[in-house]
Amino acid sequence: MDELLAEVLAEIEPHRGRGRVADYIPALARVDPNRFGIAFAGRDGMVHGAGDCDEPFSIQSISKVFMLQLALDKVGAKLWDKVGREPSGSAFNSIVQLESERGIPRNPLINAGAMVVTDHLIGNGTMGEALESLLGLLRAESRDERVHIDEEVAHSEARTGSRNRALAWFMKSFGTLSNDVETVLEGYFHQCAVAMSCRQLARAALFLAFDGRDPETGRQVTAWHRARRINSVMMLCGHYDNSGEFAFRVGLPGKSGVGGGILAIVPGEGAIAVWSPGLNAAGTSETGALALEMLVEKTRWSVF
Ligand code: DON
Repeated sequence: MDELLAEVLAEIEPHRGRGRVADYIPALARVDPNRFGIAFAGRDGMVHGAGDCDEPFSIQSISKVFMLQLALDKVGAKLWDKVGREPSGSAFNSIVQLESERGIPRNPLINAGAMVVTDHLIGNGTMGEALESLLGLLRAESRDERVHIDEEVAHSEARTGSRNRALAWFMKSFGTLSNDVETVLEGYFHQCAVAMSCRQLARAALFLAFDGRDPETGRQVTAWHRARRINSVMMLCGHYDNSGEFAFRVGLPGKSGVGGGILAIVPGEGAIAVWSPGLNAAGTSETGALALEMLVEKTRWSVF
């Protein structure tokens, strides 16, 4: 695996710095677009990496995957009364479908759907408790207590997040959100501001590749059917209006984040995390997606 990752690192060299760094969140606009890291966590729990694989970055929307698992574990199938599981075919922060679909977001990976998930994880408790359960999961499964929330990124987005505020208030008007809107938004901005490296992220997501079980310790992190369903939602919705393209080119359940990270799950094999800050129009890392395509070409890891 080390050789394969080194080959990918060498092959992406001419493509470093491609795409546009997210600039609608001021704290993310300062990140060097030439950074690139990749890591793979396998069945034995070992993590292999190349490039800037130890550098923490803002995981942004990748947090939605772990929040979905935690919320489903907490409230079960009733979550699906308030959020769908169909691809949206529109941008991650689009509001258009919400009006005609009575305030029910298409899926839990677009921003509006992720806020519904956050609302359920808060439930009757506090935003702090919901964030603690996210950090607890990520620290336990990455085997690294350094995983943290970057307060500067959270505040930067809170100051500029008018679109997300509009989505949340619009859903509130339909009765989709139970908690106070500002509390849900604060929780959402903070979950997006989790900072992790490729190594930490790949290791943390390993249970999704093994039917919800950490293959190293045998701990059942979530039910087998839940892990499979989360992977199915990632496959169909993980890259918003770029999900078809990602499935076509990479063929793995994946989740992008505007920090430039992509998490991809290889069922039965392991988890891959890649980071390169330049994004395509749908908010997926350009060089990151290319690196995944190269790795899948070498390993034949597409699920198809
Ligand atoms: O809500 C936002 O706009 C960001 N915190 C997260 C968006 C995101 O990562 C989209 N994914 N590629």
